[in-house]
Amino acid sequence: MTRVRRAIGGVVERVMRAILLGLSRRRFIGRFAKWMPLTRPMVARFVAGETLETALPALDRLKAAGFRTSVDILGEAVESEAAARAAAAAYVAAIPVLEARGLDVNVSIKLSQMGLALGPAFVRENVARILTAASAAGGFARIDMEDHTATDATLAVVRELRPLMAGSGDVGVVLQSALRRTPRDAEELIAAGIRVRLCKGAYREPVSVAYPDKADVDAAYVAVMKRLMDDGTFPAIATHDDRIVDQAIAYARERGIGPDRFEFQMLFGVRRDLQERLVREGWGVRVYVPTGSQWYPYFMRRLAERPANVVFLALSVLRERRGGR
Ligand code: FDA
Repeated sequence: MTRVRRAIGGVVERVMRAILLGLSRRRFIGRFAKWMPLTRPMVARFVAGETLETALPALDRLKAAGFRTSVDILGEAVESEAAARAAAAAYVAAIPVLEARGLDVNVSIKLSQMGLALGPAFVRENVARILTAASAAGGFARIDMEDHTATDATLAVVRELRPLMAGSGDVGVVLQSALRRTPRDAEELIAAGIRVRLCKGAYREPVSVAYPDKADVDAAYVAVMKRLMDDGTFPAIATHDDRIVDQAIAYARERGIGPDRFEFQMLFGVRRDLQERLVREGWGVRVYVPTGSQWYPYFMRRLAERPANVVFLALSVLRERRGGR
């Protein structure tokens, strides 16, 4: 009986995940959602502020609590050159603000926000502006990984533009254990000395390129994680999965890999208990801090990762409203 119930629960969760990921791509709902007051407190759990300025107190608090941070100025799938240029300019403007406040100059960027769809030269021009600014501040830029149609282009941009940061700062990339190609990509990035953030993958992908079963995604994660911990350049273990975090710690202890050789990364507002535990234990933890008004697709992916969030967050909103807020 329990097994049947678990199987039904698994199917319901998969369907909800597919629906939420489908909705994450509907721009018109995003525009509408932005104005719906109900969504605001729900969004605030995952997004630090609708502008960089309003997110600064959260960044200060994280720093004071011993966390490192990476700032994402939300936006993706940009369709006009003007919007892509404005997105790059927002990053360029953010870098001196972070530096002046003594915060980590560490940013996470999406190529689709920088105009990936508008041509290879155009996207490189925008990313180069950010890397040049980050380099001047000795900072670090991470190019996030989007769905599998962008993997080759993303890896190419990182390889080609990395020399811009030679001597000051660096640029890294993200790999997703859900993709079947990832072990090969990991070996190439290890050989090139490029820093990798390893995550499971947040996008809905076809079975031809990605593992459909979570158990396979998790197993692939652990295998690539160990390769990166052994031979990678300061890898980032980006997960909230305690079993994997514990395996990483056990592996680090077994191999004598200290906290100076890798870091954990987690999303703002997700598993704060685990984030705090790791800092207490002396591990490096970087929190990915999303800011900005274009939060809708990011937020929907967070709901899709844990469909129970939909119920959980709706209840917390109701509770807050009853409390007179
Ligand atoms: P998993 O989904 O198995 O979750 C493990 C546990 O974590 C859950 O049981 C739950 O307790 C908790 N949890 C996970 N997600 C939660 C949520 N949204 N709300 C509440 N609890 C949650 N993806 C991508 O495709 N490209 C990228 O560039 C990045 N970048 C990135 C940066 C960082 C710092 C992180 C942590 C993650 C990403 N991701 C990403 C997202 C990643 O691919 C993945 O979708 C999420 O991290 C969820 O997977 P977990 O590894 O946490 O495991």
